[in-house]
Amino acid sequence: MNNQDIINEIRRKNDIVDIIGEKIPLEKRGKNYFGVCPFHDDTNPSMSVSREKQIYTCFSCHATGNVFNFLMDYEHKDFSEVLSDLAKRVGITLNGVSTKKINSKYEDWYNIYDLCVKYYQNNLYSKEGEIARNYLKKRCISDDVIREFQIGYSLKDRDSLTKLLTMKGYSFDLLNKVGITTNDYDIYHSRLMFPLHDLSGKVIGFSGRIITDSKQNKYLNTKETELFKKGNLLYHYHIAKDAARVKKSVIIMEGFMDIIRASTIDVRNTVATMGTALTREHIKEIKRLSNNIILCFDGDEAGVKATISAGELFASENIETKVIVLKDGDDPDTYILKNGKDAFVSLINNAIYFSDFKIKNLSNNRNFNSSEEKANYIHEVLEEASKIDDEIRVEIILKDLAKKFEIGYNTLEKSFKELVNIKRVKKEEFIIPKTASKVKKDKYQKASYSVIYYMLNKQEIIDRVEEEHLVFPTGALRALESEIVYFYHKYGFINEADFYTYLTPKVELVNLLTEVLQMDLDNVLTETELFDYFKVIREYNYKKTIENLERKIKNEIDPVMQIKYAEEIRKLRIGEN
Ligand code: CTP
Ligand code: MN
Repeated sequence: MNNQDIINEIRRKNDIVDIIGEKIPLEKRGKNYFGVCPFHDDTNPSMSVSREKQIYTCFSCHATGNVFNFLMDYEHKDFSEVLSDLAKRVGITLNGVSTKKINSKYEDWYNIYDLCVKYYQNNLYSKEGEIARNYLKKRCISDDVIREFQIGYSLKDRDSLTKLLTMKGYSFDLLNKVGITTNDYDIYHSRLMFPLHDLSGKVIGFSGRIITDSKQNKYLNTKETELFKKGNLLYHYHIAKDAARVKKSVIIMEGFMDIIRASTIDVRNTVATMGTALTREHIKEIKRLSNNIILCFDGDEAGVKATISAGELFASENIETKVIVLKDGDDPDTYILKNGKDAFVSLINNAIYFSDFKIKNLSNNRNFNSSEEKANYIHEVLEEASKIDDEIRVEIILKDLAKKFEIGYNTLEKSFKELVNIKRVKKEEFIIPKTASKVKKDKYQKASYSVIYYMLNKQEIIDRVEEEHLVFPTGALRALESEIVYFYHKYGFINEADFYTYLTPKVELVNLLTEVLQMDLDNVLTETELFDYFKVIREYNYKKTIENLERKIKNEIDPVMQIKYAEEIRKLRIGEN
């Protein structure tokens, strides 16, 4: 068997309904299965999975593909990793199957980081590492936790790591580039070393913490490299991925010590940024884990500020987060150390809505001596309440407010409704009329897409297209057609799922294929329909050819040539060509 055969075999043996069904609940409806799409924020079952075609499609975000594409996206793995996972699952050995590793460029990088992890870990248990071991003991970090988080230690001397890595054949150039050395010397000295993983769990850098009182920065992170982008990284994401799905929530914390501590009480659905504010990029990844997002930042003023800006950012993406508020001076790490598991779990279960947190926060440091101050506050609360999408919660807030300031409920409700009305009118002014998200296909596009669709679903159509020398209207369609013909002749069969694998490196064609397959046409294709499709596509070519000739006539100065072109047009019109 050649590579492609083995890859197809692995795909065939891993039924897409089973594989996706292990990750998200699927429900059978008609001949397809439906579930909540994990690739965008949703609660409706907009993803359909077809056992017959071995393809999934989301009607909302248009994610689509075969079992490989699903797992690559869902688990943030590359093709070769997914292939080997699925091969193992069905007991196929991959000996010698080369899968054009997309990431081979970074293989050296990953090897270097892995060596560093081992090296730092060794140091921690060396004589020089004693001071670091004592530090960890003092912070109640056990050996199990040290192992789980692969915590290590960097040595005091100038270049022991650099020497080790150059002896293994890595160039100074590369070591400087990956952020392990600088000017050919070790970067990290006498720091606790925490490996940083990318979303799929590969080490792509480090953060080093000082362990003595020194004037240096508390943490030193790997510089930005081709792999390490501080604004994209979420600490612990690769572990939180599975935990969040089990716990049906994800908790965002500020520091990785908080994450490490939470893990000791079995709370692993946690992620942290690298000390930066949350970015939209972060939010996109977090949304994939769960819709139930809990912010648990430090209890100081900075933590409150961070909570508000994170909550607002999520709100701007229509997600209302929940908030855990700690006492000033605490962070999740110290809170858990002092109060233990049950107390923290109860904080999680009693997390309050972000809007309630904000409303509570509005009354901080305010005295309500003047009626003006009171009214300002009430208006601010109403403004917050107007963002809440839950009538019951709004009523509770209004009732609390009425009681607190001894105002009639009806008065408050009236103001509230006015505010909501003003906002609604404003919003409508700004809303761009909703055009159908997909541009309507013209008849030529529709005919071409249909023919391509049937080429993939009925192999005899491939022969027909070839026999008839059909020329599709656009370059992309022609490229897709020739890929189909190539695949079919090479392997003697074709189906959507295997063709997807084959086409994956060609992103533009994959997008086109996705559009084509979204048509989900009838299984039956009559001879008349096929004839009509062909006719329309030919008509397009005919029209274009005539347009071309007409353009040529216009630009031509030689009357003899003009006559020649005109004659061609005439022949075309009477069907001689
Ligand atoms: N951070 C950083 N550089 C610093 C300080 C902080 O990169 N000089 C980042 C780290 O990623 C850290 C996060 O910001 O995890 C939060 O900072 P902090 O709350 O001070 O760190 P903790 O995780 O609480 O660490 P520790 O308990 O060891 O002080
Ligand atoms: Mn801390």
